Amino acid sequence: MLKISTSILSSKNRIKSIELLNETNTDYVHIDVMDNKFVHNYQFPINEIIKLAKISNKLFDIHLMVEDPEKYIKNLNLNKVDSITIHIEINKDIDYLIELIKSYGIEVGIAINPNTSITKLNRYIEKVDKILVMSVEPGYGGQKFIDKTVDKIISIRNKKADILIEVDGGINDEVIDKIKYISDIAVVGSYITNSTTYQEAINNLKN
Ligand code: DX5
Ligand code: ZN
Repeated sequence: MLKISTSILSSKNRIKSIELLNETNTDYVHIDVMDNKFVHNYQFPINEIIKLAKISNKLFDIHLMVEDPEKYIKNLNLNKVDSITIHIEINKDIDYLIELIKSYGIEVGIAINPNTSITKLNRYIEKVDKILVMSVEPGYGGQKFIDKTVDKIISIRNKKADILIEVDGGINDEVIDKIKYISDIAVVGSYITNSTTYQEAINNLKN
């Protein structure tokens, strides 16, 4: 069954959103970390993540949209952190970063942008737990789902049938059927955090 990872990026009150999510069956809380280099946005300083983790009863799914993930990884070795995802497009030693995340007993994801070829994944697909497929350009919430993502998901599935596939960006109750049966985790931000009842929004996606 499709899991939901709720992104609180576009929430106007993140503490309140964490409290509301505590009362839902969201599978994870998705944290979008941005360094104003890999993307033109700066979000979620490490101390904010630590603070939010303290009040959450959900596991965190950390998405690092940063050029240099090492210091983030070293500081996010928290018991609430289930997975850390780094981008395939960065100019860093990805093998080293994968091993660093694994050394903390945290699951590892590799994220891929809409215009990046999936052949780039070949070297790493056997070494990671999941592939995060961006279905919008990274940087902001509330964008439109890019339809060609569907073919990309199918191609990744053909490379490795049992790899976890997470899809991130532009997902709502109208888009969800396009990815529901071919992926494992849907990251959903504004559709949930703009809704009046979080659980109802999650139900619309899961059912
Ligand atoms: C975009 C982020 C997404 C985004 C999802 O850079 O990685 O997680 O916040 O938000 P929505 O669902 O609003 O597209
Ligand atoms: Zn994300």
